[in-house]
Amino acid sequence: MSKITAPKTPPGQAPKTYRVKNFGCQMNVYDGERMGEMLDGQGLSAAPEGEDADLVVLNTCHIRERAAEKIYSDIGRMTKGKTQEKAPMIAVAGCVAQAEGEEIMKRAPSVSMVVGPQAYHRLPDMLGKAVQGERVADTDMPAIAKFAALPARKRRSPTAFLTVQEGCDKFCTYCVVPYTRGAEISRPFDDLVAEAHTLVETGAREITLLGQNVNAWSGPDGAGAHQGLDGLIREIAKIPELQRIRYMTSHPNDFTPGLIAAHAEVDKLMPYLHLPVQAGSDRVLKAMNRNHTAGGYLRLLEQMREARPDMALSGDFIVGFPGETEAEFEETLQLVDEVRYAQAYSFKYSPRPGTPAATMDNQIPIEVMDDRLQRLQARINRDQRAFNDASIGKTCDVLIERKGKHDGQWLGKSPWLQSVWFEAEPDQAALGDMVRVEIAEAGPNSVQGVLRETVAV
Ligand code: SAH
Ligand code: SF4
Ligand code: F3S
Repeated sequence: MSKITAPKTPPGQAPKTYRVKNFGCQMNVYDGERMGEMLDGQGLSAAPEGEDADLVVLNTCHIRERAAEKIYSDIGRMTKGKTQEKAPMIAVAGCVAQAEGEEIMKRAPSVSMVVGPQAYHRLPDMLGKAVQGERVADTDMPAIAKFAALPARKRRSPTAFLTVQEGCDKFCTYCVVPYTRGAEISRPFDDLVAEAHTLVETGAREITLLGQNVNAWSGPDGAGAHQGLDGLIREIAKIPELQRIRYMTSHPNDFTPGLIAAHAEVDKLMPYLHLPVQAGSDRVLKAMNRNHTAGGYLRLLEQMREARPDMALSGDFIVGFPGETEAEFEETLQLVDEVRYAQAYSFKYSPRPGTPAATMDNQIPIEVMDDRLQRLQARINRDQRAFNDASIGKTCDVLIERKGKHDGQWLGKSPWLQSVWFEAEPDQAALGDMVRVEIAEAGPNSVQGVLRETVAV
């Protein structure tokens, strides 16, 4: 651990540059952007790539093992061998800050600020105190107050995240999110529509609506009528320059017929659904407190494919939940065989302090988890490759997100969230353009295509 016990800045002298390091989910990425915007508002600027920053914000994730330990080693690396004047001021934000704020303050004296995910709108105040040499922690959970207190959006990128819902009331027995992010809240309809407009005005052509349970979003619209996520999607789809809408992450129990229908009716809503299932065994799902069965999940996917036959599916899996037998694990493999995911994420079960599963009997040995993870990932990779191979010969819209390494090389996303590489002359392509690309080659994680035409917006 670091020996540095106070921030670099002499009292009264504020840091000039900052870097936000994001870990964890997209909601952390969104929060990281908003913290950056707040720091910009305080007169700081983002440190150029490769240069040390005066203030480093570690925006942490607590979802799986030793996330906290990683934070301490990161802090150690940033301060090791440095004099007090050379070491950066450090803020710990995100879900580890929420879960272990006090311990961080005790264990890492070089940390100046600890700020939870619902309290970061108070970052400017905290910074003012930290500059005076005070160490400050804020892990209150006022939830909605945060959004109201944040400055206006001013990011510039073709794709944008928009957090519409936060927190979780589901209490899956393995998961820390209900403890680190608090109860489910939905941001107000009008605020979200206004933020979507601002994002589009600053260049966004695709917006991904975010929430730990995004399809649980609900609230009254401007006229007072009750709306679900589909109502919000339909409203945002009216913004003319906005081309694409996505949403994540959904819970199988929060789908409404309206949201399923929106996939058939709203052209801008992309044919891609990330819907975690976690396991294929109903006994394991029950022990996880998922409140759905494997069969119910598969029926839901069928309805989705009826609404949108080309829907690409994605999921999350946990292997080695306490008590999971080999036969139960094989039910997960069967489910994967049935769904044929376009992509999916799989994790070894990680006991999280304070969650019910952490103290359950029959914790699974690590070698067994390693073996199951490998077998599951082999199938997922097989299906992802098959999905990519099946796109060869198709021509699809690609929204350009960034330049490639070589001159004239560009990277964008297909409607099904595949990364698409292609080449174009300088006058044929620019960031944020929608172009039509014919897919010519497929790899495990991306596809390559040939530019066919630029699509007029
Ligand atoms: N709200 C979403 C995502 C939650 S976190 C949902 O309900 O699905 C993202 C993923 O991390 C989860 O879907 C789950 O697969 C994984 N995860 C959560 N807690 C975990 C734990 N204790 N061990 C291993 N994986 C975990
Ligand atoms: Fe965690 Fe379950 Fe809530 Fe997802 S639904 S955030 S896995 S408790
Ligand atoms: Fe991690 Fe918190 Fe997201 S624990 S996954 S950063 S909600």
